[in-house]
Parts: sequence; structure tokens; C-alpha cells
Amino acid sequence: MGGVTAFFYILLSLWVQDAAAIIGFTRSDFAQDFVFGAGTSAYQYEGAVAEDGRSPSFWDTFTHAGKMPDKSTGDIAADGYHKYKEDLKLISETGLEAYRFSISWSRLIPNGRGAVNPKGLEYYNNIIDELVKHGIQIHITLHHVDLPQILEDEYGGWLSSRIIEDFTAYADVCFREFGDRVKYWTTVNEPNIGAIAAYGSGQLPPGRCSDPFGITKCTAGNSSTEPYIAVHTTLLAHASVVKLYREKYKAEQKGVVGINIYSFWSYPLTNSSVDLKATQRAKDFIFGWMLEPLVFGDYPEVMKNIVGSRLPSFTKVQSVLIKDSFDFFGINHYYSLYVNDRPIEIDVRDFNADMSIYYRASRTGPPAGQGAPTNVPSDPKGLQLVLEYLKEAYGNPPLYVHENGLGSANDDLDDTDRVDYLSSYMGSTLDAIRNGVNVRGYFTWAFMDLFELLAGYQSKYGLYRVDFDDVRRPRQPRLSARWYSVFLKKNGSSPLVSGTQEDLTLNTVS
Ligand SMILES: *[C@@H]1O[C@H](CO)[C@@H](O)[C@H](O)[C@H]1NC(C)=O
Ligand SMILES: *[C@@H]1O[C@H](CO)[C@@H](O)[C@H](O)[C@H]1NC(C)=O
Ligand SMILES: *[C@@H]1O[C@H](CO)[C@@H](O)[C@H](O)[C@H]1NC(C)=O
Repeated sequence: MGGVTAFFYILLSLWVQDAAAIIGFTRSDFAQDFVFGAGTSAYQYEGAVAEDGRSPSFWDTFTHAGKMPDKSTGDIAADGYHKYKEDLKLISETGLEAYRFSISWSRLIPNGRGAVNPKGLEYYNNIIDELVKHGIQIHITLHHVDLPQILEDEYGGWLSSRIIEDFTAYADVCFREFGDRVKYWTTVNEPNIGAIAAYGSGQLPPGRCSDPFGITKCTAGNSSTEPYIAVHTTLLAHASVVKLYREKYKAEQKGVVGINIYSFWSYPLTNSSVDLKATQRAKDFIFGWMLEPLVFGDYPEVMKNIVGSRLPSFTKVQSVLIKDSFDFFGINHYYSLYVNDRPIEIDVRDFNADMSIYYRASRTGPPAGQGAPTNVPSDPKGLQLVLEYLKEAYGNPPLYVHENGLGSANDDLDDTDRVDYLSSYMGSTLDAIRNGVNVRGYFTWAFMDLFELLAGYQSKYGLYRVDFDDVRRPRQPRLSARWYSVFLKKNGSSPLVSGTQEDLTLNTVS
């Protein structure tokens, strides 16, 4: 052991002993009805893409066209379609209080509308029954980057208002079949960043973009207009689903319906007035784009002024329908960025050019250009600032941290960096709650390693490691799973290292 390593070892031992003091909170500091969980999503988890009547979603089309950087597909993914029962046992053993997952629309209704696939229905009923049996709160997302390809082919999916009727009918099936046991529904996962990636840079299905904005090569699209159209349609479809739930199901099922939004915290790079204004503009474009229509009934003024006729507008009737069409917001959060004003010099604009800012991962880093910056450092305070901003700007709505986690190329079981990340972000959630923010739950992303958006199998987020080189996709608990388990089941406050007395044994599934 070299000198530097020995020094770190001593430091680590001290840190572990003193961890309770450093972290300073336990499960008991959160309300009893606050829930801690973890998540997955259908395409990223299930595999079995051509089994038991499932038809392709636009994810399948995208991956099979070789669009992922590692050319991977979700054909098998974590094989959750076959292993869900063991996985739900692991979830229960770990002590998770809630589980967030999504339904594959094309598994449940292979033609996009009409006949329900009995095998798809059975699969989700089995999962739900199993979760009920284990006493785990169920949070379902209806659309997590997973549109039936048949609807993309028929009318262009989220670019057409025809999706509103089909999405509402699909939601109707879900509420009717599962709503007796499921009380927490999210319509769509992060449509704001989703639309930018799907229709601006072409990095997510359906992979549309136009020059010069594509990061992948796109054969069709319009980066100047389509992200705005897709979010507009998504908001209308979401509101239609909420209306359906409130009129037809809410009295009996007593559940809640919300929508999810991608977030990062934006710091001004300098205190110049242009950077301060640019930072507010970034918040209006990232948060306000969805939340101003949902809370106040229309897009932010700054967006209307800058985007002009490329931003669709709401009719009076639509505005009334959308306003207040939520019971909570789900927040996906991973990092913070610095914002630097960038005067617009080009005629052709996309979302980023409309914001006219540069994002930087750090104060000294280079401008990020159009893509998300890489190697973003962890900033737990940023999550607290997001939560407090949403409270102030949007009337203290009920919030769930739907996704928060550490992605890493590192496959290690001893993921002390992830323990550190999760505990510090949970701490900043607690700080926000103590400052009056109405946060109801926290979900780590992800319960296990999955097929990841943008990165395929190159990035691991799991509390459980999945060996994707083994056809059986065995699962092994990482340190982070054991840490979370101690936190939840034993009211533990300290991060732990292997072999300490607070350690718990969690099972492996081969
Ligand atoms: C995108 O749509 C706008 C508005 O219809 C149009 O002016 C522009 O030429 C289109 N761009 C491309 C690349 O098709
Ligand atoms: C900007 O001003 C705030 C408040 O005075 C200060 O905390 C912050 O460090 C300043 N930021 C920069 C980049 O100078
Ligand atoms: C959890 O631990 C904290 C700190 O030691 C303690 O105050 C609290 O009473 C404990 N709660 C339970 C349910 O054991």
C-alpha cells in the first residue's frame, strides 16, 4: 500500500466512523409517508421485444438502425420480462418502499389502439400483484420513450394531435385494468429534454433533426420547430388523460396523476447582468416550457417573444384544460450547469440557439456547444435549489424526485462514489423539505443496470449490477444497494464499507 493510498485509507476509516455526523440524517428525519424507492422503465429493463405479442416501439426501430453510440439494442436488456419475479423479491429484500416503472404501450396494445394483448395484460398484472403482496407502493409511468412504431408510421407520433385520442385510450385501458391497485400515475417521462433529444439533436427515437443541429445523422426532421410541436402535443395529451382520470376514475380509485420533467440547476457563470438574465431565461425554457402552461395556462412570455410563430399556441379551451391538470410533478435530476450568455448570430435556430446561452459543466470549462456536457461534477446543493425554485415559482406543488443517480462506466460492486452521491442528494432533498418544499418521495435511478438512454450499456446506474455478457443476466447487489437497505430497514445513517457490523446480506440472482 503506497503512502497516498494509506493516507486515503485512514481518511476513509475516519470518515466511515464519523459518517453519521457528516450525513446527519436518518430515515426518521423524513415523514413516515414520504417514500423511498428506485426505478426502471419498460424498454430499458424488459427485453423480450418480440415475445408474446409485443409489437415494436420506436425504440426498437431506432436501436436496430444502429443509432446508439455502442450499437446496442434493448432486445434482451436486463431480461426483466422473464426475471421480474426475482427482481421484485430483491426490491422487497432491499427494503424499498416504492417502485417506479413504466408500461410498454406496444406490449399492452400492439396495434397502438384497439385490442388489448392478454399476455401483456397478464405481465403487468403479475408485477402489480407481486408489488401489492410485498407492500410496495406502485408508481407507473405510461410513456417512457416507448411509442408504438405503428403510430409513428401512421401519423408521426407526438408531432400529430391524433396522438391525443390514442394516448388517452391507452391510459383508459391502464386505469381500468390496473387502477384498483395503482394510485400513482405519471403520464410522460421528461418530455422537455426528450423532445430536444428526439427532434432537435436526433439522439433519442424517433431520431429526427435538421442541419446543422443533428448530433446523430437524421434523414428527416426540423430542429427549429419539431421540439416545440412535440411538447405542445404532449401537454395536450397529458391534460386529456388527467381529465379522463378525474371524470371517470378518481372518485372510485382515489389516485393521483402527474407528469415528469427533466431538471438541472443553472448557475450564472458570472454576475454580469447578461449572464444573470441568461440564467433566468434557461430556467424559463427548461422548467417554464412545461410548468407555466400547467400552472398558469400558457407558455412563458420570454419563450413566446423569442420563439415567435415556431411556438404553437393554446386556444382558450386548451389553456383551461391544461391549467391545473396535475396532482404532482416528478423531477429527474442529475447535475448542475453554468450558464453563459451567448448572443444569437445565426438565422436558423434550435432550442439551444433560442435560449441563446452556452452551458458549461464547470466555471472554467469550455462551452458545451449543443450537446449535454460530459463529466459534470456532482452538486447536491443543485437539487435543493431546483426544488426550492419550483416551490417559489410554481406555487409549492407536490413534488417527487423521480430520478437521481450516478452513471458510471465503472462496473465495480464497491461503488462508494455512488453511495456518496445518493446520500448527499438525499440530504439536499431533506434540506429542501425543511425549507418548506412539498417533496413526497425520492427514487434513485436505477434499481439495476439497464439499457441506458444515450449510452446503451456503457453507463451503469444500478444499485444492483447486471452482467450483460452473461445470457442469464445475473444480478449482484452493489455497496449502494446495501447502504440504501441499511438506511431504510435499520434507520441507518452512515455509509458503510463491506464487512462492517451494519452491513446487510442481500441476495444475488443468477
Ligand atoms: C422548419 O420549419 C420552418 C417553419 O415551417 C421552416 O421555415 C424551415 O424552413 C423548416 N426547416 C427545415 C430544415 O425544413
Ligand atoms: C455572484 O454574487 C453572489 C452573491 O453576492 C456570490 O455569492 C457569487 O459568488 C458571485 N458569483 C460570481 C461568479 O462572482
Ligand atoms: C432513527 O435514528 C435516529 C437517530 O439516531 C433516532 O433519533 C430515531 O428515533 C430513530 N428512529 C427509529 C424509528 O428507530
